Amino acid sequence: MNSLLMELTKKACEAFEKCGYAHDLGLVRTSDRPDLCAFQCNGAFPAAKKYRKAPSVIAGEVSKVLKEDKDFASVSVKGAGFINLDVTDEFLLKFLCEMVNDPNTGVPQAEKEETILIDYGGPNAAKPLHVGHVRSAVIGEALKRIAKATGRRTVGDVHLGDWGLQMGMVMKELEDRGKLSDHIDITSEEWDTLYSDANAKKKLDPEFDKAAHEITYKFQNGDPMYLSEWKQLMKISLKGIGKMYDILGVQFDLWHGESDAAKYVGELMDALEKRNLLIDSMGAKVVDVSREEDTAPIPPVIIKKTDGSDIYATTDLAAIIEREKLFQPDEIWYVVDNRQALHFKQVFRCAKMAGIVENEEKLLHLGFGTINGPDGKPLKSRDGNVLKLSDFYKDVYTSVLARAAEGEDREENAHKIAVAAIKFGDLINFRAKDYIFDLEKFTSYEGKTGSFILYTISRINSVFRKAGKIELHVPEEIYTDSELNLIYALLLTGDKFLSAYEDKAPNVIAESAFDIAGAFSSFYAENKVLSETDEEKKNAWLYLMHATKVVLLKHLDALGIEAVERM
Ligand code: ARG
Repeated sequence: MNSLLMELTKKACEAFEKCGYAHDLGLVRTSDRPDLCAFQCNGAFPAAKKYRKAPSVIAGEVSKVLKEDKDFASVSVKGAGFINLDVTDEFLLKFLCEMVNDPNTGVPQAEKEETILIDYGGPNAAKPLHVGHVRSAVIGEALKRIAKATGRRTVGDVHLGDWGLQMGMVMKELEDRGKLSDHIDITSEEWDTLYSDANAKKKLDPEFDKAAHEITYKFQNGDPMYLSEWKQLMKISLKGIGKMYDILGVQFDLWHGESDAAKYVGELMDALEKRNLLIDSMGAKVVDVSREEDTAPIPPVIIKKTDGSDIYATTDLAAIIEREKLFQPDEIWYVVDNRQALHFKQVFRCAKMAGIVENEEKLLHLGFGTINGPDGKPLKSRDGNVLKLSDFYKDVYTSVLARAAEGEDREENAHKIAVAAIKFGDLINFRAKDYIFDLEKFTSYEGKTGSFILYTISRINSVFRKAGKIELHVPEEIYTDSELNLIYALLLTGDKFLSAYEDKAPNVIAESAFDIAGAFSSFYAENKVLSETDEEKKNAWLYLMHATKVVLLKHLDALGIEAVERM
């Protein structure tokens, strides 16, 4: 189905056309002055320029046609040619009912078939996940769900960092501990210390560093012993990483990594050579990706290091070849920290130059900012070290659990509420911005929080439990202003999803959920639903509560958040 604004725009476009003007002038949007009207169309102004007529005259003609449409409760021309619009209650209720019954809950579906590959998560396989991994996972998951909700096919790929020196380092560290063997047997606590220990040694001991490089070279070039040990380590690593993503409710379709992309490096080199793009730079092979119009210098991208090994950019380019072959995506979205902007600029340009992609615009770096502590610096553990994701989650969970209501599902609920707090607290911010993590604020039942949204749904559940078995029908009347406001908030869902997709901005969905929950609060405070004696009125309010729940669940689903029955 169309979104509300699409539906109204359609009517206005037809009216412009009927008056002899271009069809596309009829864009309708929500009004800048909600006190005067709900919607407005400003098409008379561009029309005036195009047809050299006064905008008020055009607006007058168009509004005359619009008045014939019985879905409009009022059509008036204000100022120099603004068309102010209000629709009938009947129209609003019909639209609401359609939304509630629509399998996509009123979210318009893309017309053509499209595949979006989303590269998110991006953990380094040699280390446990830390708080820095939250944003890519949470934002990427939401973007994938938003793309899916608007009718796109999506492929979510975790793109593991599993092929570089970091793996050689942990292997060398294991070797030092006498534990690198055919059957690597280590506990998860031991696993968690490997990388940091290796990193400390690497800094102090050039021998260690050299040996780690050698091991890296060996497994990268197919040495059977090291490759088999690499495989075992990957298994151990993925178990821990997988568990953490499960807790966060983040699901990948693909667990590919740099190692899978590495199989396409040969093809990459051929493509670069064929186009004479490789330049020798002090023993390394690089591609000059700078352009005349660059205002800041863009350094060449390194493809092969002096020792012949591949680096980050190499596997990212090879991964594009792999993805083109396996999925022919229409777009690839990279949900990666803002600080990697230059890397992606280089990679995307190089991909275009090498002919790996026809147009560079299909490759999008969707960057994000950092999660900061109260001091405004990236969030750290209490002792000032890297904050492990499992500890971060545990803190939030413990705080939520302390306040959770008794009941058999207490722990399960606390888990869901904790995840909602983390995800909503992140997604309510525009992704490119940094934000400060504040446990108190994020887990509060009030304000722009996950708990507030979940609480709203739990209140609706409670009313329906008390109401007992009821048959609802579509209401015929809207009785109060607070109802009307809630209905408007619900009906904009389709439009919000369209703009969230367009702008790759999950915060639009989070804001919309908050608007709905806020409008619901006012509605619920004003109208005493269960004690209402007028059966039609009571039905209307219960129907609206049912619709609110359906629509909020749609929002939560897009944000990757699960609701709870009670709170
Ligand atoms: N593993 C990388 C890192 O830790 C992130 C990977 C992001 N995706 C990509 N295709 N480069 O920084």
